[in-house]
Amino acid sequence: MAGKVIRTIGVLTSGGDAPGMNAAIRAVVRTGLGKGLKVRGIRKGYQGLLNEEIIDLSARDVSDTIQRGGTILQTARCEEMRTEDGQQKAAAICKKYGIDGLVVIGGDGSFAGAQKLANLGVNTVGIPGTIDLDIDCTEYTIGFDTAVNTAMEAIDKVRDTSTSHERCSIIEVMGRDAGYLALWCGIANGAERILLPEEHDYDENIIVEDIQENRRRGKKNYIIINAEGIGDSINMAKRIEEATGMETRATIIGHMQRGGSPTCKDRVYASIMGAMAVDLLLEGKSNRVVGYRHGQYVDFDIDEALGMKKMIPPYQYDIAKLLAL
Ligand code: ADP
Ligand code: F6P
Repeated sequence: MAGKVIRTIGVLTSGGDAPGMNAAIRAVVRTGLGKGLKVRGIRKGYQGLLNEEIIDLSARDVSDTIQRGGTILQTARCEEMRTEDGQQKAAAICKKYGIDGLVVIGGDGSFAGAQKLANLGVNTVGIPGTIDLDIDCTEYTIGFDTAVNTAMEAIDKVRDTSTSHERCSIIEVMGRDAGYLALWCGIANGAERILLPEEHDYDENIIVEDIQENRRRGKKNYIIINAEGIGDSINMAKRIEEATGMETRATIIGHMQRGGSPTCKDRVYASIMGAMAVDLLLEGKSNRVVGYRHGQYVDFDIDEALGMKKMIPPYQYDIAKLLAL
C-alpha cells in the first residue's frame, strides 16, 4: 500500500507492558500532531481495537508521561486477533475510524498482528517493546534496560544477605522463552551459575558438585540466576540444600521487573523509535518494524523480522561462566 496518503494514525501497546512504552506513545503522538496528522490512541491493544476503545489524543494527553512506567494506553493479550475473522474485524474498525496508519508497540506476537493488518490494507509499523530483548532484528527493545537494572539491583540486595549467611541463593528473573535478562544479570551480578530457557538440559548434579567445589575454594555464597522459563526455583532450592548441606533460599523477582520509571536509555531510544515509526508511515511505508542495529536506527520488513530467531551469543555465555571462577 506504499503511496497511500496518511491523514490519521493510531497507536496501541500490546503484549506484556515495558517501561519506556509511554515515551514511545508520546513521541508518536507529538510527531504525528507536529506533522499535521490526527492521532488516535487505542486502549488495551488489539482487544481494545476490536472493542472500539479508541480516543483522540492531543499533545497534552501525553504530558507528564515520559517518566512513568507501564503504558497509559494499557495493554492486553487478545486471542480473537489471532483468527482471520478477528483480523478482518480489526481492519474494518481501523477503516471506520479513518486510521490509515497504525503504530504497534509490542513484541513478535504483536508484530504478527500488525503484519495481518498490513495485508488487509492498514499501513502498519511496529516498535519493539518488550523487557525480554528477544527480537532478532534489533539489538535494543524498549524496557529491557530498565528491567535488567531493576533485576540487577534486587540481586545485589539478595547477595548481601546471601554472603552474610553463607548461603546459596537462587534468584528467578523473568523470561519464559528468552534468557537475555538472566544472561545480563548473570554477568552484571557475578553469578556462579545462569540457567537459561534456551538450555533446558542442564544437569543439577553438576551444580551440586560446583557448589561443593566453590566452598572448598573459600567462596562465601553461590548465586544462581534462574530464568522463569526454567522456573521451579523453590523446589530447586530444597533439592540443592538437601544435596549440598548448604542453606539455600529462592527469590522470585517477578513482575516488579516490568514496572518502574524507565531509564534514560529507554526514554531516549523509545522517543526516537516513536518518531521514526511516524516518519515511516508518512513515507507511505507499511509492514515495517523499527530496530536498532550496529549503532543505527533501522527498519525491517515485518515478514523478514519475524523470520529471524534470536540466539543467546555463546561467547557471552562462556564469559559469564569463566568470570564465576
Ligand atoms: P508480544 O507482542 O510481547 O510477543 P504476545 O505473543 O502475547 O506478546 O502477542 C500479543 C498479541 O498479539 C496477542 O495477544 C495477539 O492479540 C496478537 N498476536 C500474536 N500472535 C498473532 C498472530 N499470529 N496473528 C495475529 N495476531 C497475533
Ligand atoms: O514478555 C515479557 C514477559 O514479562 C516475560 O518475561 C514473561 O515470561 C511474561 O511476559 C509474563 O507474562 P504475564 O504478564 O502474563 O505474567
